[in-house]
Amino acid sequence: MALLEIKKAGDPVLKKICAPVEKIDKRLRKFLDDMAETMYANEGVGIAAPQVGESIRVCVVDVDKKNRYDLINPVITFREGSVIDNEGCLSCPDLFGDVERAEKIRVEYKNRFGKKKTLDAEGLLARCIQHELDHLDGQLFIDIAQNITKGRKKEN
Ligand code: CO
Repeated sequence: MALLEIKKAGDPVLKKICAPVEKIDKRLRKFLDDMAETMYANEGVGIAAPQVGESIRVCVVDVDKKNRYDLINPVITFREGSVIDNEGCLSCPDLFGDVERAEKIRVEYKNRFGKKKTLDAEGLLARCIQHELDHLDGQLFIDIAQNITKGRKKEN
């Protein structure tokens, strides 16, 4: 495995619409493992391929360090409710802001072996998946956040 360089806001790769993955093979699985290692090393809960310079529709999320999801060509097929909460991003170091997201989602994707999967998510997992999917469409959370602060906002 290898640590990958994280692209920061301002890098054009973060503004591109990513292309669907056509071939799910050993090379892609190694890339997913490298993305995961990079995410864990930087204490992130999610990472999308363009954040490490690859403009493909792939992301890795793990919000509890127990359940890692490798999402290939993910599509949100259902959304319900709305919650505003504070977010950050590995590509925007030290910036935090409030983002409105769906409370519950359903996402359809292929796993690392090409198997079609459906995941129903809520809470932080739902938020994280929505954040990562925005990356695949060239959108950063700072493009849509409110009350952006340097450093995490103190809880009351
Ligand atoms: Co991000």
